[in-house]
Amino acid sequence: MLGGLHGIPVLIKDTIGTKDKLNTSAGSFALLGSVVARDAGVVAKLRQGGAIILGKASLSEWAAFRSLNAPNGFSPRGGQGKNPYVLSADPCGSSSGSAISVAANLIAVSIGTETDGSILCPSHANSAVGIKPTVGLTSRGQGGATVFDKLEISNIETISNATRSGEAVALLAEFKVSVNAYLKQLVVSPVRTLADVIAFNQKFSDSEMNDELGQEIFLAAEGTNGIGSLEKAAMANLEQLTKDGFQKLMWDHELDALVTHGPGISAVLAIGGFPGINVPAGYDEKGVPFGINFGGLKGTEQKLIQIAYGFEQLTKIRKPPTFIA
Ligand SMILES: *[C@@H]1O[C@H](CO)[C@@H](O)[C@H](O)[C@H]1NC(C)=O
Ligand SMILES: *[C@@H]1O[C@H](CO)[C@@H](O)[C@H](O)[C@H]1NC(C)=O
Repeated sequence: MLGGLHGIPVLIKDTIGTKDKLNTSAGSFALLGSVVARDAGVVAKLRQGGAIILGKASLSEWAAFRSLNAPNGFSPRGGQGKNPYVLSADPCGSSSGSAISVAANLIAVSIGTETDGSILCPSHANSAVGIKPTVGLTSRGQGGATVFDKLEISNIETISNATRSGEAVALLAEFKVSVNAYLKQLVVSPVRTLADVIAFNQKFSDSEMNDELGQEIFLAAEGTNGIGSLEKAAMANLEQLTKDGFQKLMWDHELDALVTHGPGISAVLAIGGFPGINVPAGYDEKGVPFGINFGGLKGTEQKLIQIAYGFEQLTKIRKPPTFIA
């Protein structure tokens, strides 16, 4: 029997491992020529389903976790990814190429990744549909609506500030642990640790291979030392913010989805591991797209997709890009 995705071409974000002739480089020359031990879980599932991995999509280098000064959608390997609606407009990131390729009608489906906003924001900015599933889902496992206006998530100011919530502390430490583990298990790689990547970036800091992007997030991550008491406290705080905030709001009002203009609640979804979906919602006076986001509790993708589909069918807002200069 043929798989449900038989023959469907798919682009994969360049942070997702593919055991084939494609490089998996996160947009960095430091990883060019590295060889992964196996397909990432999502890639293996796509292949099992019959999908054809057509290529890698560009991104904000290192999924936007190298420097705050790096432009959205830019990587030394891929160059600047551009918003196909208004070429000078921000394509957002970090899964920029995944959203751009779909928006520009180059491909029907692409895979991105999201920690905090990396699917919802580029799909919003490039007028594409973007789904960020419940954390762990892809790799491991409107008509009669009642609308409540202006609901407030408690402590939303804290949640939206990654320094204050503890999100930054958790991300920096987890990044170092995960990147080092990833680099270590590669079959072949020019770099084996985050420290090696930092040294690579320093060595080539002025070359076209690397540009002058800075790497202060990398340096901050390198300065962490695993998941210690500070990180555990930050994670406990994030869990409490989720319980008192998004989860309580959804339960108290028996909501199916929280609706926002654009990816404004990506931090809420990020810290709780919740799913969200972006659907094209319009274009501003310059032609720059914006989206509407529906966020929900864990495992409610089916409902979110129904709601988003209902919105899309009622509005039919999306139009193909015209590459305005
Ligand atoms: C990666 O890119 C290099 C340089 O362009 C190329 O020689 C190589 O075949 C590519 N693929 C892998 C898996 O290294
Ligand atoms: C975020 O929180 C930190 C620490 O409380 C504070 O210094 C900073 O100004 C806040 N940033 C914003 C944008 O509010």
